Amino acid sequence: MFEADRSSALRLRDSEGRVYLDAVAGIGCAVLGHGHRRWVDAISTQLSKLASASNTFTTGPQQRLAAALAERFPVDDCRSFFANTGTEATEAGLKLALRATGRDVVVTCERAFHGRTIGSIALTANPKYREPYVRCMGEDASGRFATMNVVRVAFGDLAALEGVFAELGPRIAAFFVEPIQGEGGVWPASKAYLVGARELCDRHGALLGVDEIQCGFGRTGDWSAWETIVGRDGPRPDILWLAKAMGGGFPIGACLTRAELAEHMGPGTHGTTFGGNPAACAAALATIEVIETEGLLGSARAQLPTLQRLAEAEPCAEVTDVRGLGAMIGVQLGELDAGRAAAITPALAAAGLLATTPGGHTVRLLLPYVAGEAELLEAWRAIATACAQTPR
Ligand SMILES: Cc1ncc(COP(=O)(O)O)c(C=O)c1O
Repeated sequence: MFEADRSSALRLRDSEGRVYLDAVAGIGCAVLGHGHRRWVDAISTQLSKLASASNTFTTGPQQRLAAALAERFPVDDCRSFFANTGTEATEAGLKLALRATGRDVVVTCERAFHGRTIGSIALTANPKYREPYVRCMGEDASGRFATMNVVRVAFGDLAALEGVFAELGPRIAAFFVEPIQGEGGVWPASKAYLVGARELCDRHGALLGVDEIQCGFGRTGDWSAWETIVGRDGPRPDILWLAKAMGGGFPIGACLTRAELAEHMGPGTHGTTFGGNPAACAAALATIEVIETEGLLGSARAQLPTLQRLAEAEPCAEVTDVRGLGAMIGVQLGELDAGRAAAITPALAAAGLLATTPGGHTVRLLLPYVAGEAELLEAWRAIATACAQTPR
């Protein structure tokens, strides 16, 4: 088992001294690169000043972060609930949708991933995460309501979503969707799909929640992946989740919603001891500052087109697709059911690249936003080498 020992900028070193290009980056967390000086200083300064306050009191970093998010994310009259992880942010949004609408059904997508706590697992598609727990989740033997009244529809299929709304509309509290499915294999949604989903939710009085835990916070070249796809002047979601990149590698997540909806989560309805910890908020504020002062939205945005250009110049016969948006890149190898990406993972590490392979068919690159053409070429060549060295 690989033991991570140290990291610096774009590299991670294992306990035996081998150094890798890190395209896992804490699964999309270390977006500034590892150990950015400004980020480390901001956290250490805050730790010495006030490390812990609980959610009994507000703190300066919490208030500044809430204001910074409201300025940057496409949520009107934005309020933030701070959590420690993505799954907790999801849970907050799920409770909010159920309370605010008084309804009992939530619609999510096939291949969706929304987290691993019990509520979030119910929203998540992959049965392997859910099956050990369904006995306490009320799974319907008919399979109609897979768990906790969650209905799944094919991602990107507006007609299927329309069909579910036609059948269950008055019961549907919310539709939750990832603008780019990450764990499902790096699949961006189209503008027509997201705008159509917004219209359906409006027509049926349901809320629209977008899970940007993996794809948000600058990864697509805008603060919000929704905005990259739908546009700045387009419609907006009711709930938006963040985590991962938000802390630059320090644990923090957030559930953003309109003030009018946040009213449904009054004092005592939800909470967390550590959520909104001052050091975590300072980490998120420093992440925002570095992304803006170093122009990292632009460099994140450039990653996919750069890799596509490199792929054209040095083709690799096994690659069937290079897709994604900005710094969220999927390199698909072979057919979806062939498991080829999973098979080359050991050879990838041997070639000096750390990357995960969601779905088993796609090598996912979640490089820090600071990564440029040199690192993308290095990653591309490592994939080609690993393909060549792994027998089919
Ligand atoms: C889209 C999405 N939602 C939710 C989560 C859960 O986040 P966490 O692992 O921080 O609980 C993840 C994690 O990979 C994710 O990619």
